[in-house]
Amino acid sequence: MRRLQRVTRVPVAQRRSKRRSWEAKWSQEGYAPYWQAQTVPDEVKDAVDSGWFQPGAALLDIGCGSGENAAWLAEQGFEVLGVDFSKPAIDRAKSEHVEAPGSLEFKVMDICREAPPPARFNALLDRGCFHGIPRGFRSSYMRNIVSCCVPGTRMLLFAENRTTTLGQRVRDIEKAFLPMFEISRTAKTHLAEVPGVAIWIVRR
Ligand SMILES: C[S@@+](CC[C@H](N)C(=O)[O-])C[C@H]1O[C@@H](n2cnc3c(N)ncnc32)[C@H](O)[C@@H]1O
Repeated sequence: MRRLQRVTRVPVAQRRSKRRSWEAKWSQEGYAPYWQAQTVPDEVKDAVDSGWFQPGAALLDIGCGSGENAAWLAEQGFEVLGVDFSKPAIDRAKSEHVEAPGSLEFKVMDICREAPPPARFNALLDRGCFHGIPRGFRSSYMRNIVSCCVPGTRMLLFAENRTTTLGQRVRDIEKAFLPMFEISRTAKTHLAEVPGVAIWIVRR
């Protein structure tokens, strides 16, 4: 019993401290993180232009931060929900994109604790959220994103890759996503200045 309590308490404390750390960052006035893109990433633009994201799809931006990608995608005709567990990030997203055209909503949500509306999204974007999820919570992340997808939902995922090879990073992501998803393509990229990987994923 004592052992079980220890095992469950540690990840909960870890998750809380992660959230608090992100909230502290997003609360800083003028917070301009090193990974923030100055423009919408080419892979996101290409996912729209090529039809990888089905035109007009309901799209979930997981860990949307201050919402630049979500706002741009709404402007392109997608029906976008941006979620982030940091309230200051969502407050900033709402105030910075209050006038943004299109269908755009932002919500405070911890993707490891709460499931988005079921079978709702045909498109998912995760730029820089999944790779920071503590390993003990990856199964919760997966469960919640699986429940909000439909068969064929397409996802574009970006992860930093500073310390491992591309192959190792991709295998790490495959471990979490297979077999519920299929990895369609992978490519080296950068998250601003930081080396990373972009992965195109399909819900089976
Ligand atoms: C590296 S930032 C990327 C922000 C945004 N996607 C972008 O590209 O500008 C990662 C974001 O994920 C959020 N995040 C981390 N864990 C989360 C979780 N469990 N649920 C929701 N958001 C989370 C953080 O608050 C942070 O805003």
